[in-house]
Amino acid sequence: MSIPPCTDSMLKDGTFDGKTIIVTGGGTGLGRSMGQYLSQLGANLVIGGRRADVIAETAAEMAKETGNEVWGDSCDVREPEQVEALIDGAIERFGAVDGLINNAAGNFICPTERLSYNAFNTVVDIVLRGTSNCTLALGKRWIDAGRSGTFLNIVTTYAWTGSGYVVPSAVAKAGVLMLTRSLASEWGKYGIRLNAIAPGPFPTKGAWSRLMPDALKELFDPANRVPAGRVGEHQELANLAAYLMSDYSAYINGDCITIDGGEWLRGAGQFNGLEMVTGEQWDQLQAMMKPKKG
Ligand code: HXC
Ligand code: NAP
Repeated sequence: MSIPPCTDSMLKDGTFDGKTIIVTGGGTGLGRSMGQYLSQLGANLVIGGRRADVIAETAAEMAKETGNEVWGDSCDVREPEQVEALIDGAIERFGAVDGLINNAAGNFICPTERLSYNAFNTVVDIVLRGTSNCTLALGKRWIDAGRSGTFLNIVTTYAWTGSGYVVPSAVAKAGVLMLTRSLASEWGKYGIRLNAIAPGPFPTKGAWSRLMPDALKELFDPANRVPAGRVGEHQELANLAAYLMSDYSAYINGDCITIDGGEWLRGAGQFNGLEMVTGEQWDQLQAMMKPKKG
């Protein structure tokens, strides 16, 4: 049995009217789903990613579906000048920026001893340096202008558990989580909020093709690891992201909300594997182990 999702829109129409939100890596996957929902709720949406064609196509499709303005440009978050240019473009178009979701990421599975220096650095550069580039660029502008704003950083649960075979990503996501918590404290006085989301498995082409090659799918079906009995639905994540970007969550600052159906805790609890024990086996075990009264 699984816990069924509710994929209704959680926030009311117009929640983001007049607000401008940037989503890095917004051309595909979860970035696209979060962006589309913000746009549906009234935001002026700005998306960035390295592939200009993907960004242009997604922006056009989203605008058509939501009826609101979506603008995008190619932007490699590893390059501060490109990040500055995306923010400049957003301000030119919409007058100001109110929030940014650091969603862009790079990742692949590989035994760590097989990684080249460049392979390790590439993932860390996209995830950690990319996030700090975007955060610095926009945070400095907000502080200079005396404007408030909201950041949302997409991490993973292995940001605190660690994980083999994705070590550069784990190291970088842990850094992003610390950036979130540290700046939530330091920049609160400027009216800037930072939070994070740690998603469990949410199927996307980008993640699945790199982390779940066909040969591993049966061995490593992520749904089997989740107490809720299933993978996540994009709208479930979009609802949480929109809430954390909205004024409804104004008193949440520096937190990381996990949305994984209980996946990481199942892996962590030492006795959780006992769920394989049947009722009959429990009868036998208890007959052997339970002390008799008196
Ligand atoms: C070993 C690899 C590799 C692999 C690339 N490299 N893929 N090494 N195993 N599978 C090495 C290359 O040989 C090269 O090193 C270095 O990494 C850089 O590779 P490039 O292809 O030149 O880099 P680039 O074009 O910048 O691409 C970055 C990328 C790529 C990270 C390698 O996968 C990418 O573009 N990813 C973006 C999208 C993505 O990853 N989405 C998934 C996010 S999912 P050398 O030494 O040869 O030069 C996610 C989920 C987390 O984060 C949690 C899930 C539960
Ligand atoms: P995805 O579709 O591959 O998304 C990654 C996006 O980042 C792509 O749009 C990619 O576009 C962009 N990107 C990569 N490198 C970039 C760079 N240097 N500059 C700018 N953009 C860059 O994968 P996803 O599953 O949706 O992942 C989205 C986020 O969720 C990531 O932070 C990921 O770590 C996190 N996450 C996902 C899962 C999951 O199960 N899917 C679980 C936990 C966490 P370009 O290639 O065009 O640049």
